[in-house]
Amino acid sequence: METTRILKGDICYSTDKDTLITVPDGFLVCENGLCAGVFRQLPEIYSRLSVEDYTGRLIVPGLTDLHMHAPQYAFRGFKMDLELLEWLNSSAFPEEARYEDPEYARRAYSIFVNDLRKSVNTRACLFATLHLPATKILMDLLEESGLETFVGKVNMDRNCPDYLCEKDGNASADATIAWLEQTAGHYSHVRPILTPRFIPACSDHLMERLRDIQREWQLPLQSHLSENPEEIAWVQELVPGSRFYGDAYDQFGLFGGDVPTIMAHCVHCPPEEIQLMKEKGVYIAHCPQSNANLTSGAAPVRLFLDQGMSVGLGSDIAGGTVLSIFRAMAEAIQVSKLRARLTGDGLKPLTMEEAFFMGTKGGGSFFGKVGSFEPGYECDAIVLDESPIPHPQKLSLKERLERFLYLSGDDWVLHKYVKGRQLF
Ligand code: GUN
Ligand code: FE
Repeated sequence: METTRILKGDICYSTDKDTLITVPDGFLVCENGLCAGVFRQLPEIYSRLSVEDYTGRLIVPGLTDLHMHAPQYAFRGFKMDLELLEWLNSSAFPEEARYEDPEYARRAYSIFVNDLRKSVNTRACLFATLHLPATKILMDLLEESGLETFVGKVNMDRNCPDYLCEKDGNASADATIAWLEQTAGHYSHVRPILTPRFIPACSDHLMERLRDIQREWQLPLQSHLSENPEEIAWVQELVPGSRFYGDAYDQFGLFGGDVPTIMAHCVHCPPEEIQLMKEKGVYIAHCPQSNANLTSGAAPVRLFLDQGMSVGLGSDIAGGTVLSIFRAMAEAIQVSKLRARLTGDGLKPLTMEEAFFMGTKGGGSFFGKVGSFEPGYECDAIVLDESPIPHPQKLSLKERLERFLYLSGDDWVLHKYVKGRQLF
């Protein structure tokens, strides 16, 4: 049965990184979950259909969080005065270990998924933990939420505390196969993604096994890259034959190319690494708040965008503390300005259009035609709640959107649609 829905309101979306389309009092038409177009006047063929009338409200594409850790949601805001490796050992690893207990996992993941469902995001790529039962609980809850997600059971078999470490590469790889077999065909909205934590936590043998699994199951992959100077030096020690951090993934055939791949952070990439990411089509998940909280630095996002590379935004919960990718847009601009002033390297700060693009169409493209209202795009839409921030003047749509990036909370959303289905 054909289903058509028509949303009326003040519509904003990107077509490319420099172009923000704004249509006041427009009509977004969605047919069978796909956008048919945005119109200033409703075409005659739709005139007899009912309209969901959000006159005066901003309507934008749902946002994509390209990198976050679901089990870390419970401790966001703790120990934010540490750097990455200290923070992992003192905060992230002990908390993730709790997910061995399915009871705890259900409690904690229920809070997380409930908040994510209410948030401005419609898509997310998530790290779970190494535990199978807990990861399945997370997938069940996400499936029920109606959001579209990729979830990864984490692989980690070395350089981690005993209480959160798989026995060896074979144990870790076998657990991944068991997870894939046990969940195959169970979900419509949750897809698996291979998730080696990062090179320091994954033995060579594990990476070899993951490559075989990737081939057999045709899975995408997510991991971390060039986040912190100490981490980068450690990778060089652990994989002495690698030319740079990304090359350590590439030696195992796990760095893009035929493997759709997201690398989070990419703060300290040497030129050869950037070149290889570009050649291999690796996605960059830029996580500005996390990069500030963990003293990681400021990624050269302008460079990535100007070279036409694929860049999205991530909260990196709980390196970052905020779910809303609107806030990540504002922080991406802020961090790019600090970077420009402090390095003086001539890279221009990001524009609002670029930040909005990264949080919608840029990151969304990892999921396919997602993150825009152009014809053929999957119809993810959010109707925003500006009532907490009234303004004395009549503002343009762009001004209202810009303000929303900086002033809004995680869940200032009145209605949410994913692939044309209304969640609320
Ligand atoms: N690198 C390896 N694990 C993690 C993690 O949990 N968070 C961040 N930000 N970086 C990592
Ligand atoms: Fe991370």
